[in-house]
Amino acid sequence: MRGRDDDLIVAVDVGSCKVVVAIAAQDDTGELSVIGLGCSESNTGVKDGCIVNINSIRDAITEAINQAEMQAGREVRNVFIAVSGKDIKSQNEQGISTASGMNKEIRRNDIERAVEQAKGISISSDRRILHVLPRWYKVDKQDNIQDPLGMFGTRLEAEVHIITTEETAIRNVLMCFQRMNLEVNAIFLQNIADAKAVLSEDEKELGVLLLDIGAQTTNVSVYYKQAPSYTTVFQKMGGDQITFDLSKGFGIPLGTAEKLKCEVGIADYECTNELEKIQIPAVGGRAAKIHKRSEVVDYIQPRLLEIFGTIRENLKNNDLLDCINGGVVITGGTALLPGIESVAQQVFGVAVRVATLKPYGGLGDKINSPEYSVVNGILGLGDELSGYYGGGSTETKHKRSEGKNTFMTKVSDFIKQFF
Ligand SMILES: Nc1ncnc2c1ncn2[C@@H]1O[C@H](COP(=O)(O)OP(=O)(O)OP(=O)(O)O)[C@@H](O)[C@H]1O
Ligand SMILES: [Mg+2]
Repeated sequence: MRGRDDDLIVAVDVGSCKVVVAIAAQDDTGELSVIGLGCSESNTGVKDGCIVNINSIRDAITEAINQAEMQAGREVRNVFIAVSGKDIKSQNEQGISTASGMNKEIRRNDIERAVEQAKGISISSDRRILHVLPRWYKVDKQDNIQDPLGMFGTRLEAEVHIITTEETAIRNVLMCFQRMNLEVNAIFLQNIADAKAVLSEDEKELGVLLLDIGAQTTNVSVYYKQAPSYTTVFQKMGGDQITFDLSKGFGIPLGTAEKLKCEVGIADYECTNELEKIQIPAVGGRAAKIHKRSEVVDYIQPRLLEIFGTIRENLKNNDLLDCINGGVVITGGTALLPGIESVAQQVFGVAVRVATLKPYGGLGDKINSPEYSVVNGILGLGDELSGYYGGGSTETKHKRSEGKNTFMTKVSDFIKQFF
């Protein structure tokens, strides 16, 4: 191996079925280029998005990092990671401060004080604040300000989105990386990375529902008026359930059902015709059976309707159904099921699309499918933060550091509180 990773951004997504690692470096034009990728199976170490076996997940992360290091020819020391958390909850809070500048000008310190006050919510001792995301600010009577720095005013109000999680889940992840002698620059909830990777500014302004349907979890986020409004994660909800349904329905082993789903799975009858046939291997040496392809929809569609129905009910209970007029965006591996948009459209009654991702250079085309949206988004977030954490040239450090805000600063504080 040659060279340390000071100029690199290393993204790690710890999912329920896979760990993905992407190593990116700036190319000559200043754009990020992916130079190493690694992927390993995580299903014995992670269940429903949470670590259940430290040794097993450590082996999976090591394997994925080794693959990526070999490809990049570089050694990894610092990582940006994304996780699912446990019992994720979110709430929107307000905080107030007064302008302390000589001419009643709002300074960074005033913004931080307002955000700090908003954070002063009481949470139980087994929970931790994972993210504090500024939504918008109000300066005296002027509303909806994205960046109040330098504005003239007396009273500053900050509206923030606070995401909390159970402490043990995050502690386990951090311990794992610490034991591997890897320094965690920042830890993100997967929802945050997904939003960075797939949502457009227009969608966030109009109001959008973002769903990452993975193997065992579904990450749900609502953005409205550009700001994060709601965040949660449903456990035991994802593609694995569809695989179980196919296994039970056709009487085939889980491995065969998984292959069937990924190769010929469809979510809607419109994606096939009555004449299209598929062959399903039988167990116990019996001959394979021929079925209509539309039969897989009999198992896949009801499960998707149930998943979308549960999410719709949850949004309804939180008065959010009027906040998704910009549509629904689906990402995660299960988004690859053809016809999933029309099933979601039936339930939510708004426009639905499957995520398209930012194309990075180098090996970037290998991570522009929905199942890689988290790692793709971490690269974008890590790029914004890398100056802050010491990566990049002095010039880019300065440029990138401008993007950091209170939330980003506090991410490192969050990590420190565990060690
Ligand atoms: N081509 C495909 N068609 C249908 N489903 C697919 C396809 N490819 C992958 N999947 C499913 O996507 C799921 C994995 O998605 P993803 O890689 O996003 O999961 P993960 O991030 O590891 O898990 P989680 O987000 O639940 O922690 C699996 O259930 C897998 O069967
Ligand atoms: Mg995932």
